[in-house]
Amino acid sequence: MVPSPEERRRDADPFLYAHRHRDDIVWMSQNTNQLPTDPRIEEAIMEAVRTKEYNLYPHARGVEGLTEALLADIGAPDDYRCLVTNGAIEALYILTRAFLSKGEEVICTNPSFMPIHHQIRLCGARPVELPVYGEPYKLSPERAAEAVTPKTKALLLIDPLNPLGTEYTPEEVRGFCDLAEDHDLLLVHDITYKDFAFSHTPAHDIIPERTLDVYSFSKNAGMAGMRLGALMGPPGLMERAVEYNTNVLSANILAQRGGLAALRTKEDWMPRVVSQARRNQEMIREVVEGVEGCFLPVYPSSTNMFVIDISGTGVDPTMLQDEMLYNHHVFIRDGRYVSREFGENFVRVSFTIPEEGIRRFARAFPEAVEKLRK
Ligand SMILES: Cc1ncc(COP(=O)(O)O)c(C=O)c1O
Repeated sequence: MVPSPEERRRDADPFLYAHRHRDDIVWMSQNTNQLPTDPRIEEAIMEAVRTKEYNLYPHARGVEGLTEALLADIGAPDDYRCLVTNGAIEALYILTRAFLSKGEEVICTNPSFMPIHHQIRLCGARPVELPVYGEPYKLSPERAAEAVTPKTKALLLIDPLNPLGTEYTPEEVRGFCDLAEDHDLLLVHDITYKDFAFSHTPAHDIIPERTLDVYSFSKNAGMAGMRLGALMGPPGLMERAVEYNTNVLSANILAQRGGLAALRTKEDWMPRVVSQARRNQEMIREVVEGVEGCFLPVYPSSTNMFVIDISGTGVDPTMLQDEMLYNHHVFIRDGRYVSREFGENFVRVSFTIPEEGIRRFARAFPEAVEKLRK
């Protein structure tokens, strides 16, 4: 199992290595969902393959029924519109392009899902990264308010939050909405992980006219490789957003067929996914508690991931990631991916994977930490 020095040199990119060995890799590095969902999703995809629906461009609005199902899934206000995108990441790209100008600021967190911050910078705008690696491991409306300047254009609320696993209470969401209203801000509600939350408060229920919802099928429906998401919002904002649609020929048709089936059957499988994810995080907690110098800043997590703080072990997270990947075939993520400033303190693990993978993690993690401990 241990790769030769030659193989390691060739696969300096751990993702390349992990993909090459994917049949044996316990993949806990990207919050993907590898738990069983529903055979009807795969059937819908296969049917689109069998009938060669992929020969045609999909309708620009997406396959019939998809936008309606998406709007229903988030409980959108009646006048809300929906743009089907190639993943949430494309929805974010479109909205940053459409609404941000040079010199403007967006209030964000650190840690965070950093590719969004990169997109903000591409517009010449600045992500104002408020540190949240410390109690309560999330942003508060008060701290966000202190960061508002005349240049502030938007507030990015990833809820629940990648990577920490914290969710926002109804009072907190209301506080962020009041702030957006008081300072004429857009509220970007990234709800990629909402289905894993204990409770979720949609900002569009409070300030529908200034909220944009960013949706993903990657984590709930386990369709990360399919690349499907959506941008939803009120007519005024969406008219502007669609002007910046990077893909007027619509998103992957197979993904759309799978996504529609996923939404139509969601009640049958999503609760099972969530309860397995909760069992899995409990198993991980037991392991982490047995390793001196490690702790979980946030437990239980409201997403399908959390971070393990390893700062008390003296172990470097990159070394731990490599040791776990190359010597145990368990792929966890160096904290630096989600925070340059705080990432040296932690690794991120996601747990929407079959229990056998969690058992392999449970064997590997203590051994890897002991090997590297200073
Ligand atoms: C907060 C957040 N938004 C967006 C995405 C990207 O989602 P998608 O796979 O739908 O592009 C991720 C992926 O990890 C994420 O964590």
